[in-house]
Amino acid sequence: MPQQQADVARRTLLKGGAAAALTGLTVVTVAGPARAFPGHTDGGVVIPWLDQPTPVPPEFGNTLAHPLVWEDIELLTPNDKFFTVKHYNQPQLSPTAWRLDVTGLVAHPQRLSLADLQRLPRREVTFALECSGNTNGVAAFAIGLIGNARWAGASLREVLRRARPLDLGIEVVFWGDDKGPVTIRDNTGITGGGETGAFANGALTVTEHFARSMSLEDAMNPENLLCYEMNGVPLPADHGAPVRLIAPDWYGVANVKWLTRIEVLDTRYQGRFMARDYVQVREVERAGETVWTFTSVTHERLKSAPARVTRIGDHYTVLGAAWGAPIAKVEAQVDDGRWRPTKLTRSQGDDAAWSFWTLDWGTPTSGEHTIRSRAYDKDGNVQPTPQDPSILSRRTIWENNAQITRRVLIP
Ligand code: MTE
Repeated sequence: MPQQQADVARRTLLKGGAAAALTGLTVVTVAGPARAFPGHTDGGVVIPWLDQPTPVPPEFGNTLAHPLVWEDIELLTPNDKFFTVKHYNQPQLSPTAWRLDVTGLVAHPQRLSLADLQRLPRREVTFALECSGNTNGVAAFAIGLIGNARWAGASLREVLRRARPLDLGIEVVFWGDDKGPVTIRDNTGITGGGETGAFANGALTVTEHFARSMSLEDAMNPENLLCYEMNGVPLPADHGAPVRLIAPDWYGVANVKWLTRIEVLDTRYQGRFMARDYVQVREVERAGETVWTFTSVTHERLKSAPARVTRIGDHYTVLGAAWGAPIAKVEAQVDDGRWRPTKLTRSQGDDAAWSFWTLDWGTPTSGEHTIRSRAYDKDGNVQPTPQDPSILSRRTIWENNAQITRRVLIP
C-alpha cells in the first residue's frame, strides 16, 4: 500500500495491530447503487456546523473553486460541486483535435487521439481525490478540498506497454497543457546559505507547464487511468478535459489535468510541482540533532472527518467520511467522552473510494458540542492527533491528516 512511505510521519503513527483495529467493528460493504449508502436515506434535519469555512480569499483568484460543503456530502460528489485546483490557465482543448504524445525513452513513440483511447478496454475506479493542501482549518477556507468520483478511462499501463519504455527509462513525466510565468529566485533555488548558482543575485522568469512525475514502476500500477469520464459524463473542462491522469491513492497534485504528453526519462524530473512547490519540509530530531528534510508530496494519508449531524425527532446521527488507505474502522468522540465505535459503510472492491461512517448519537444535551473522528487502516495504523510528531514536524501546509474536530450547537 502506498501509505507505507519510509518517512517519519508513517513510523510515528500509533500501531495498535490489525487485531486491535478489528475489535468492536461494524462494517457494511455495499456493492449496489449510491442510494444504499447512508446520507441518501437519513432524510433528517441537517444541523450546520458552527465552525463554517470562510470564503476563498480573493488572492487565490481562480486557483481554488467550490470546496466541498461537508453537510451536503454524498457518496459520489456531483461534478459541478467537486472542488477544483488550477495553478495556471484553464486550457480549452478540442476533443477531436487533441492528441496525447507518449515519447522520450520509448521504443515506439505513440500519438493517440481520444478515439484511440476509447477503443482500449474501458476501466473504472472510484477514488476520493484530496488536495494535499486540504488543511484541516489552518486556512479556514480550505477544509473541503476533497471529492469522491467514479472515474473511467483507458489503462495507463496498457498505453505505456505499447510504447515499450527502454531499459534506461526510470521516470515518467505527465505534462499538462496549462502553463504560466514562474520566477525562479536564483539557480540554486535558495535565498541564503551560499551563492553557488549562475543567477545568484538575480531571478529567472520562465514559462512553465504544469507537470508531475512518478517512477516507471508507480506509473505501471494497473489502477492508473488515462481518464476521459467523470461520474458517467465526459470529463468536464475544469477537471482536465479531454483527458487527465487518475492515479488512485495519490494526492490531487499527481493527477495531472489537460494531459498532452507523457515522457519517459532516465532521471528524476525536478519541475516546480515536484521539487519546489508541493515539497514537504519537516523539522525532525535525529540522535540529538535537528535535521530538516524535503520530500515531494506523493500518496494520500489515512484520514477521516465528521461530515454532518442530522436530527430525526430528538434523535441525532453523525455521518462522516474516511479515506487515504483501506479503512478497517472509524471511532468518534463527542466532547471529551470515550471513543465510540461507528458503523462503517464502504463500497465493495473500491479501496480508493471514501467510506462512510455513522455514529448513533442518541439525544444529546442542548448546547455546544465537539465531534472528532479517528480512522484505522487495515494494518492497524490510526489517524494521528494534531499533536502527533508526524503533524507537528511539518513546516509546510501539505499532508495534514490529523484528526479533525468540528463544533455543533444542539438547540
Ligand atoms: N493538473 C494541471 N494540469 N494543472 C493543475 O493546476 N492541479 C492539481 C491537479 N492536477 C492541477 C492539475 C492539484 S493541486 C489538484 S488538488 C488536483 O488537480 C485537483 O483536481 P480537480 O481540479 O479535478 O479537483
